[in-house]
Amino acid sequence: MDKRAIIQGYLPQHIEPQETARAFAPSNIALCKYWGKRDANLNLPINPSLSVGLGKLGTETRLSPFDDPQDRVSLNGEAVDPSSAFALKLIAFLDLFRPAGSPRLAIDTHNNIPTAAGLASSASGFAALMKAINELYRLNLPVEVLSAFARMGSGSASRSLYDGFVEWRMGVREDGMDSHGVPLEATWPELRVGLLTVTEAEKPVGSRAGMARTVKSAHLYQSWPLQAATDLEQLHQAIAERDFERLGSTAEQNALSMHATMIASWPPLLYWQPESVAAMHRIWRLREEGLALYFTMDAGPNIKLLFEADSQAAVCQAFPELQVVTPFGSA
Ligand code: PMV
Repeated sequence: MDKRAIIQGYLPQHIEPQETARAFAPSNIALCKYWGKRDANLNLPINPSLSVGLGKLGTETRLSPFDDPQDRVSLNGEAVDPSSAFALKLIAFLDLFRPAGSPRLAIDTHNNIPTAAGLASSASGFAALMKAINELYRLNLPVEVLSAFARMGSGSASRSLYDGFVEWRMGVREDGMDSHGVPLEATWPELRVGLLTVTEAEKPVGSRAGMARTVKSAHLYQSWPLQAATDLEQLHQAIAERDFERLGSTAEQNALSMHATMIASWPPLLYWQPESVAAMHRIWRLREEGLALYFTMDAGPNIKLLFEADSQAAVCQAFPELQVVTPFGSA
């Protein structure tokens, strides 16, 4: 289905832009990953996923109309080449909502996540942009509609419309409007996410191409939807019971299962660098020694550690370079 046609059905007849609009959205880390699309145009997933938001770490986007023949994009205060893939993607998304004849925009995006951590992701970027568009054009759309629309920019962005734990329901509708984030009420103040930048090397294959390759070429992918469904259930139980071992072990097994399907693709897709594997061994050794420490990984070489507040000192001693995030509340 056509994105624009779906979106048009939700927009008001008359749109009067605000002077400027500003919005923030948190980054998120999936504990049960999204990997594989059933509709590549609408970013509809083959499996549901579940994430935890990174609180104050994310993207702030400001939109300001101005008189110019061209939109202007900046990232962290620096002008972005309008013909770059980054600028073109943002502008194409904006154009899905921009009323005919309305002014060009300055799109200023700030990520407060270290870019090197491989986390300055499209998730918080598209979620913040979607919220800013909603403000600028006074669309007054409900949050689940914003989530479904942000999903069209980047799948994982559907989860960045909310804080805390979020399930992205895969939905069944052809237009995908039931495929959006749903926040869980639960909080977990002791939960910590540690961002470990093992290497700043650029990832050679993005998640869109990586998913397509896996779905097309890996027989092992057949078992992924079942793995994800089982893990989703386990995570819901772990969160309801505040059972950290269950949460951590499920998230780690889920990430490794996703990576197994990537490795089994052709040509093979291995995002790990030697430093990633070294970090995994260090985590497993610490766990054997009694530390409740687990990890998860996305489509890149860097690792996200999962632990609780009472392990923080020991974890930081083992990984002095770690950036610790408190998803629920400040610390
Ligand atoms: O939303 P995308 O297209 O950047 O894909 C995200 C894919 C993973 O990060 C690997 C998994 C996830 O659920 O976030």
